[in-house]
Amino acid sequence: MDYSLKYATPEELHADCLVLGYYEKRKLTETAAKVDAVLEGLLVKLLKRDDLEGKTGESLLINHVGLGKLDRILLVGLGKRSDLSAAAFRKALVAAIKPLKECGTKSAVSLLHEAEVQDRDLAWKIRQSVEVFENALYRFTQLKKDADSKPPKLAKLHLWVEQEQREAGEQGLRQGQAIARAMLLLRDLANLPGNVCTPSYLGEQAEKLAKQHKKLSAKVLGEAELEDLGMGAFLSVSKGSRQPARLIVLEYRGASAKTKPYVLVGKGLTFDAGGISLKPAANMDEMKYDMCGGASVIASLGAVAELGLPINVVGLVPASENLPDGAANKPGDVVTSMSGLTIEILNTDAEGRLILCDTLTYAKRYEPVAVLDVATLTGACIVALGRHPSGLMSNDDELAGQVIAAGDSSGDRVWRLPLWEDYQEQLKSNFADLANIGGPDGGTITAGCFLSRFAADFKWAHVDIAGTAWKTGADKGATGRPVPLLVQYLIDRAG
Ligand code: BES
Ligand code: MN
Ligand code: ZN
Repeated sequence: MDYSLKYATPEELHADCLVLGYYEKRKLTETAAKVDAVLEGLLVKLLKRDDLEGKTGESLLINHVGLGKLDRILLVGLGKRSDLSAAAFRKALVAAIKPLKECGTKSAVSLLHEAEVQDRDLAWKIRQSVEVFENALYRFTQLKKDADSKPPKLAKLHLWVEQEQREAGEQGLRQGQAIARAMLLLRDLANLPGNVCTPSYLGEQAEKLAKQHKKLSAKVLGEAELEDLGMGAFLSVSKGSRQPARLIVLEYRGASAKTKPYVLVGKGLTFDAGGISLKPAANMDEMKYDMCGGASVIASLGAVAELGLPINVVGLVPASENLPDGAANKPGDVVTSMSGLTIEILNTDAEGRLILCDTLTYAKRYEPVAVLDVATLTGACIVALGRHPSGLMSNDDELAGQVIAAGDSSGDRVWRLPLWEDYQEQLKSNFADLANIGGPDGGTITAGCFLSRFAADFKWAHVDIAGTAWKTGADKGATGRPVPLLVQYLIDRAG
């Protein structure tokens, strides 16, 4: 969809539909009240007629209003005026999109952002409007025969702001579009099945993205190079697959060459069957989403490049499949990681940490300011936290605080779990330096502990996105998370 800022007076608006907010007890927002006055109280009268009181997420579409060039008005409930939270505002945006899609309007002007949202400024509200609308309009049809038989008609969204709000408006619009574009790229890559989105395919997509931005470059390492680097843990996972492994390296140069970079690492398991420790059949298809971390890193670098942030950022994506095969890892196998630490593989389904640990070792060469890894790492994370926050673990309190703050402001939240020394015990092996699983207790944390052994030389945070990267059930699909978290973290670092 096409988004733009509008500075006209309401009477001059050329749009088919005006989107306005109202609070509980049918209190209209400023512009809604003005329009209501022009329409001699029609808006309030219709809200009363339909028993609409202003709960967050209700809406009323009024057709044929005959106000200048406006054809329709969509009223959206915002809840109690005194406690309009960031979450409630997002909920109202989601509520707005449904009637807009269904009524067949081609363009709309939204003024929902004129409502005061707790602790949020105009740029945030504009940005969220774009993010929420763009994600709500997303459809994944590329694998269907009649791909776009009925694309939604809504093609233009104008966000109406006053002249003096221009700067904030433009910033919100720019960030919203970059983040939304990255979220849709992640969702597309993730929704593609394992037979299309292979490690090589992911590498090609990264190269394609790099061609679109001058400051972005891509390099894709193959198995021979990984062998030379000594990535024995990573390669042990891809051995059981006919698709060769890839290490995707994306470098964004927004600052001088000697400025130390932020490094993002993303798990790019394009299909995780579990290997010899085979997963049960139910819902195994969802393991095509095991590359959401990797795709979110690729997509986020695209957003960073689009925003031209004045920092250096490196994206590292180890990509592989995990399948059962005669050449696959077997329980009890011992492999040597790039760091030199040996690992006893007690469960071949704990493969994410095996491809990530060598990538973390590789990250060291960049002398990073901080390393952030994102991975659909443990089912246990869904048990512990459900599907609302991602799990955060870190060896640095300041970094953890920055990630939490980025989660809060972007709405892509995280919840921190402890990485206490006490848990390291569980990774003891009789035959190697450490085991790749830590038993049934605290599975998300022991996975984090495993990674921490390869991240001792830099500030590092690990985000387990197992519960947040995709939705299961009737509306199965990738969510676009953790792109907002990653991009917000980097926007904040860019100052
Ligand atoms: N990709 C999975 C984690 C996962 C499972 C994410 C379900 C989302 C939903 C990971 O590779 C895995 O299999 N982890 C194992 C670890 C266990 C063997 C210690 C798990 O969670 O069962
Ligand atoms: Mn697994
Ligand atoms: Zn996995």
